Amino acid sequence: MNIDEILMDYEAVMRLALERGFYFPSCEVYGDAQAGFWEYGPSGVGLKNKFLELWRRELVRRDGMLEIDGSQIMSKSVFEASGHLGNFADPIIRCTECSSTFRADKTIVDVTGIEVPESAALEEFDDAIVQNNIKCPKCKGDFEKTRNFNMMFKVGIGPEGEEAYLRPETCQSIFVDFPRLFKIMRGKLPLGIAQVGKSFRNEIAPRQSLLRLREFYQAEIEVFCNPAKLDEMDRFSEIENTVIRVQADGDPVSMTCKEALESGMVPNKFVAYYLGILMEFYEKTGIDVKRSRFRKLGDKEKAFYAKVAFDFEVETSIGWLELVACNYRSDYDLSSHTKKSKEKFEVMDNDEKVLPHIFEISMGIDRSLYTILEHSLRDDKEHERIVLSLKPYLSPIHIGMLSLVKKDGLKEKTDEIYLQIKRKCDAFLDHSGAIGRRYRRLDELGVPFAITVDHQTLEDDMVTLRMRDSMEQKRVKISELESVIVEAISFP
Ligand code: GLY
Repeated sequence: MNIDEILMDYEAVMRLALERGFYFPSCEVYGDAQAGFWEYGPSGVGLKNKFLELWRRELVRRDGMLEIDGSQIMSKSVFEASGHLGNFADPIIRCTECSSTFRADKTIVDVTGIEVPESAALEEFDDAIVQNNIKCPKCKGDFEKTRNFNMMFKVGIGPEGEEAYLRPETCQSIFVDFPRLFKIMRGKLPLGIAQVGKSFRNEIAPRQSLLRLREFYQAEIEVFCNPAKLDEMDRFSEIENTVIRVQADGDPVSMTCKEALESGMVPNKFVAYYLGILMEFYEKTGIDVKRSRFRKLGDKEKAFYAKVAFDFEVETSIGWLELVACNYRSDYDLSSHTKKSKEKFEVMDNDEKVLPHIFEISMGIDRSLYTILEHSLRDDKEHERIVLSLKPYLSPIHIGMLSLVKKDGLKEKTDEIYLQIKRKCDAFLDHSGAIGRRYRRLDELGVPFAITVDHQTLEDDMVTLRMRDSMEQKRVKISELESVIVEAISFP
């Protein structure tokens, strides 16, 4: 690529998002719009849909998983069983003077740099606050004692306002639907069940646009397995040489999945296989995986349902972002739902009756999209342009369809070609403005190819195909355009 590798930061991505229709705040015309809610514009939806198509190809279909689409509102019993009603809480502190509320762990780390894990006992936060003399950042008042704040949104169903909740993670419907799905889909262990959808968390301090939202997208995969067979994984050979970066204690180390398994950094073939295919997926998104790590979480950092956990994190201009939580949830979920519902969640694995264990790959879509944008955005100083070097198959628009000028029949010829190609790819028609400026607008939107119709086209039935990254141009016959484009934008 013939462009300067000057990567852009959070502010540059924000500007791009707002100006080019990737995302923007929800209800922005009203002053009472709450923080933590954002909308995807047309460019964001295009990128999200293509990202999810890649996720389906590289994870769901590759592994023969099932995909479902469950309800966003679920009954109270689900969250009593899951432990969310009891445990899904953030430690908060309230100022005795101005009543402002803050997350205890964040306030402590911001003021002192000391990290008290969010799952620590409440007294640990109080001790840190007293010992470091931490006061309210707004008015310097004292804090009340730390308490837990449950992050689920409660809803009232029907005129009686029956208690139910917006799901805080999509996976609960996968767990409660498991017995039916296993039976009707003739399931066999190990079985992956996937779901894409919205989840809801009443964050105390939503911030940084897509990075901490109250309403957000997850793509979750729950793999049901026989715990006695975690090293019987034939498919492991597919990824044994795939390189991942693993961090347990100390710095991240690059190693193949086979080395990660043999060194004990990853506990078994089953987990190594899923980390491997996840890495291969992210390589194809255009994220710079040299700046990634699977970070093994300590006991105090893990979610309450996880036995072993790796966070897949990527370095950005604002630090390491967790994009995926990979949790070995053991039989936590199916045991809890068995107990609460009195239904049977055991299944047959050949001749053996087992209560499956679960390994989860819980992906944050919004954060992944942000990271793709940041890692793809470049300042090409030499050519005085901003370029969003998205992979062609992820670009919201594949082709910019331009007439050099509107007159002399060029507009009509351009319209004719546009009609021909617009059902084969995402094309954008643009007749007006200086051609250089139109190219630059397309570059910033991540459009990988532009097709220009000029006077020569009327004579030789050829158009100019311009490549975004290299700015190279070549002449292509109109009759061959369709196959050239389909090839260039196809998924790998
Ligand atoms: N299901 C795990 C999570 O939401 O992080």
